[in-house]
Amino acid sequence: MSTTTSATPPGTPEVTESAAPVFSVDGLWKVFGPKAARIPADPELAALSPAELRSRTGCTAAVADVSFDVRKGEVFVVMGLSGSGKSTLVRCLTRLIEPTAGSIAIDGEDVRAMDKSRLRELRRHRAAMVFQHFGLLPHRTVLDNVAYGLEVQGMGRAERRERAAAIVAKVGLEGLEHRRPGQLSGGQRQRVGLARALAVDPEVLLFDEPFSALDPLIRRDMQEEVVRLHREEGRTMVFITHDLQEALKLGDRIALMRDGRVVQLGTPEEIVGSPADDYVREFVRDVPREQVLSVRTAMRPASSADEAGTGPALRPDATVSEAIEAVARAGSPARVMDDGRCLGVVDADALLSVVAGTTGTADAAAAEATTGSPAAAGAARAGDGGPPTRARPSVGEALAQRRKPTTPPPATSEEPA
Ligand SMILES: Nc1ncnc2c1ncn2[C@@H]1O[C@H](COP(=O)(O)OP(=O)(O)O)[C@@H](O)[C@H]1O
Ligand SMILES: [Mg+2]
Repeated sequence: MSTTTSATPPGTPEVTESAAPVFSVDGLWKVFGPKAARIPADPELAALSPAELRSRTGCTAAVADVSFDVRKGEVFVVMGLSGSGKSTLVRCLTRLIEPTAGSIAIDGEDVRAMDKSRLRELRRHRAAMVFQHFGLLPHRTVLDNVAYGLEVQGMGRAERRERAAAIVAKVGLEGLEHRRPGQLSGGQRQRVGLARALAVDPEVLLFDEPFSALDPLIRRDMQEEVVRLHREEGRTMVFITHDLQEALKLGDRIALMRDGRVVQLGTPEEIVGSPADDYVREFVRDVPREQVLSVRTAMRPASSADEAGTGPALRPDATVSEAIEAVARAGSPARVMDDGRCLGVVDADALLSVVAGTTGTADAAAAEATTGSPAAAGAARAGDGGPPTRARPSVGEALAQRRKPTTPPPATSEEPA
């Protein structure tokens, strides 16, 4: 978990909502099976559940009517259980898998209209993929593996080795340049895979569950590496994972998939604070809310000029957890400050209610708003027109409620290919 994202939250430097999206995906379908194209074209078939679709047509809709934009500079996470369609979706982006219907654009250019050479260009230069199983060349050294993509691009030997050496150092493999993949640990090999993708200086990096096979500690190292690289370079990333913790840690925004569809798209805070339906709610119910939700969730207007003028100051994106620390230390409410302006205050009661789960969970209507527009989400959470307040159980009751054992979200029936 990114518990202390205060210093530099991932994605902060470059993400601009207004900038033209890197990828723009609209109404995308990938159907496997006989006469696949009729499924998206027929509203009745398109609306069937996976099991019904299978029994009536013999087809599987791995990606079903998916739309999203990947903004420049963001880490866009696609999360879902095994078989939910993540790999198919990310492979469709560069047409490693041919979509059945819908549109995909990169920087406004129609990917589905690209000819072979344009597609090659796209995969080699613009959107580099980092795979789970590394895809390294066993007989080549680390340096030559990293230089491989540059070689394919036609760069001269001296130049590409120099460039590769710099990237190898950047991902922390200095000194291992002349080893072969077989002489490296899993984590080191994954770094080579990452370095190779980075070497071609792609506009966007695509990761398909790259760390799933790694030991937990090495996995955490690699996640931190991604956060660091992103912070330093602001490179756009699409990151696939089935791991909620990983999604929350890395994602500026998360698209949560189920049975080929995106059931919710939002920031980690929106997904945890305002689950769009019971499935998402079940998915996120064990997440420590105080580490994901921001102080805005607990904020109220200052009751007096005095209250607006004293007390510790917090940024609007500070986590509830950080706010609790500040309030506990000061022994008074804290102010949420933006550009020298006091947006509101948070006190111990309100913060504890967030931990307990008695606030910060919007009802369905507010969830609807948050899936669309972050601004609307902010407004809803800030209080005006927000969800009706419910009868509040005590903090103790609520905590007890929240710690009850949970049933995991129902697994999809299908395993990935
Ligand atoms: N080549 C294929 N032929 C038929 N079905 C496939 C093929 N590839 C994937 N699928 C099915 O599509 C669904 C989504 O698979 P996948 O994209 O691999 O999911 P994920 O990456 O989320 O685990 C699964 O039901 C899987 O069985
Ligand atoms: Mg997969």
